[in-house]
Amino acid sequence: MTADHPDIARLVDPASRFDPYPLLASFRAASPYAVSDGLLVVGRHADCSAVLRDPRMSSERDRARLAPASKGPRTRNFLHLDPPDHTRLRRLVVKAFTPRVVARLEPRIRELAEGLFREAARRGRFEIVSELAYPLPLRVICELLGVPFEDRDLLEDWSGKLSEALEPPLPGLVAPRATSEAARARVQFITYFRELIAQRRRSPRDDLVSHLVQVEESGDRLSESETLATCVLLINAGHETTVNLVSNGVLALLHHPDQLKLLRGDPSLAAGAVEEVLRYDAPVQLTSRVARGDGHIGSLPVLDGDTVVLLLGAANRDPEVFDAPDTFDITRPPGARHLSFSAGPHFCLGAGLARLEARIVLEMFASRVTAPSLAENGLAYRPNLTLRGPDRLNVLFDDIQAPS
Ligand code: HEM
Repeated sequence: MTADHPDIARLVDPASRFDPYPLLASFRAASPYAVSDGLLVVGRHADCSAVLRDPRMSSERDRARLAPASKGPRTRNFLHLDPPDHTRLRRLVVKAFTPRVVARLEPRIRELAEGLFREAARRGRFEIVSELAYPLPLRVICELLGVPFEDRDLLEDWSGKLSEALEPPLPGLVAPRATSEAARARVQFITYFRELIAQRRRSPRDDLVSHLVQVEESGDRLSESETLATCVLLINAGHETTVNLVSNGVLALLHHPDQLKLLRGDPSLAAGAVEEVLRYDAPVQLTSRVARGDGHIGSLPVLDGDTVVLLLGAANRDPEVFDAPDTFDITRPPGARHLSFSAGPHFCLGAGLARLEARIVLEMFASRVTAPSLAENGLAYRPNLTLRGPDRLNVLFDDIQAPS
């Protein structure tokens, strides 16, 4: 850390979990800057957006001078690859997430969400994270891939461990225990999918795993280890992030009863509400790139192999881009784009699916749950910096109405 710049490690302080945005504002204002040799921080919207679109900024994080020593060979998924491998692998699955395919999922997602709200009504209590935000996207991505939902406890456990290790390379941030547990979870995931792939090879079904197996068998476009890495990426990215979008959304509505009332009065505002939650409390707070070759970000010199941490959550509240950036306003006119789904070639493949799931849930929450409020001590946060969201969110209510 340099003396004249705010210490980014302060983000780790549990006290800033509930509201990291004042700290993020100070990082953004000072950025771009070097935290230490080889580690740069970028928080302004224009800089983050430019870095994400810059082909000289690599997603191959193990190129970094700061990268931890490799623990033997392992296949990287395409989130961690540059062209041409990134382009080749992404193209093989992109068709499963086109707007038309995603729109066809709406009735099924509604049916699943209805079921979860009905169960909460019957129970008379609602813990949003484990009873809504987690099971819905996990079930949807399981059905798309063809992964048995009965295995959800295993999948949740492994995914959680992978996410814990998904933190920026800040000193002391990732406990060595988390890294080794993530490595073990990765092996367990791979073993699990190897077995599932063998089953689908014997008897294909109409699901994404069978599709990948067919692509693998039909030529040299996909190796077995790439199929495995893609399956793990899709199951993981397909729910670990959406859980936070749904929970952050419900929480923002509870904290802003005027906005909840607006949404209740006009369900057509749900899509705008989802965009505003993404901007206001980004489920993925940061990502990183590694510089290929020397260059500059603004006037800051960048050296080959430098890690550039991009504070997406800070960029989304940049006053240069958003009016009243700290105000939660679901009627914000479309225009300036948040960076919560990234930008450039790695723009989130599942953005349409995540938006649809969250729109359905927020609309149902606002229109069906009467007199909702946050229970006393009902909110606890996950400790992660990269994936930001509650661990527990207990909501009290008078009633949950059945669909009219
Ligand atoms: C609220 C929910 C979600 C958020 C906030 C989110 C965010 C992101 C971000 C920030 C990236 C890019 C990271 C980077 O540029 O380094 C990304 C990539 C990706 N996301 Fe999402 N995501 C969400 C939901 C989903 C869903 C539902 C899927 C379902 C399949 C998905 C699949 C992917 C994949 C495959 C990539 C890699 C794309 C690439 O490297 O080309 N995501 N996501």
